[in-house]
Amino acid sequence: MSQSSQPGAEPSKRAQDFAAVRDWPGYFRAVLGKGPRETLLAALDAFEREGKPPADAVDLACGEGRDSLELLRRGWRVHALDGSAEGLAHLVPRVLPEWRPRLRAEVATFDQMRWAKRGPVRLVNCSFSLPFCEPRHFDTVWERIVDSIEPGGRFAGQLFGDRDTWAAIPDRSHHAEPQARALLAPFEVEMFKVEEKDDADAFGVAKHWHVYHIVARKR
Ligand SMILES: C[S@@+](CC[C@H](N)C(=O)[O-])C[C@H]1O[C@@H](n2cnc3c(N)ncnc32)[C@H](O)[C@@H]1O
Repeated sequence: MSQSSQPGAEPSKRAQDFAAVRDWPGYFRAVLGKGPRETLLAALDAFEREGKPPADAVDLACGEGRDSLELLRRGWRVHALDGSAEGLAHLVPRVLPEWRPRLRAEVATFDQMRWAKRGPVRLVNCSFSLPFCEPRHFDTVWERIVDSIEPGGRFAGQLFGDRDTWAAIPDRSHHAEPQARALLAPFEVEMFKVEEKDDADAFGVAKHWHVYHIVARKR
């Protein structure tokens, strides 16, 4: 239930209600302690099946760090970036002392983000983050992502579709399915799960979800 049962009480908001209005501190509190995303787990499992050891990973717009923590736990070196200092402030105290040398946490907006300075990385993870990249920066950010992944490395994350309610918000980056698939031309696509469903926010306002869950291996 998204509505509070107490008459006259404020409806209890879910993570999506905070994300709708870019209230990131509220979003982080709503998701704190949740486990890693399925797309990340699928990518990590694929590396394990190939016998490829943990190496350098980038977690772009890592939020409060649910995926960064899983990467660190599995032995990866992680460059975690997010536009919000509050997100990293939730991540850093949860990093075990023995993992700390493998984490670089940095506040940066999408247009400021630079990574892979030491060479290509094995994984770029973008869980539910790229739709929040302003459209004027998207192509450059996507080019950086593709260029930074080593051959045989992977992209994991989500793109949002053009039928999603939030596609009408001007500062969001959404893609029709053919456009999203075209972005993945430099990759072998291992997962392209289309999720489309009707939902409502905490106030009962309709929200249509149109999301592509992606894991792709760089050629
Ligand atoms: C929906 S959250 C996803 C966070 C995390 N990756 C996860 O899976 O929960 C979107 C994230 O994008 C970040 N973000 C939004 N706009 C941004 C921008 N312009 N530059 C950098 N980060 C941004 C927010 O701070 C937030 O952490």
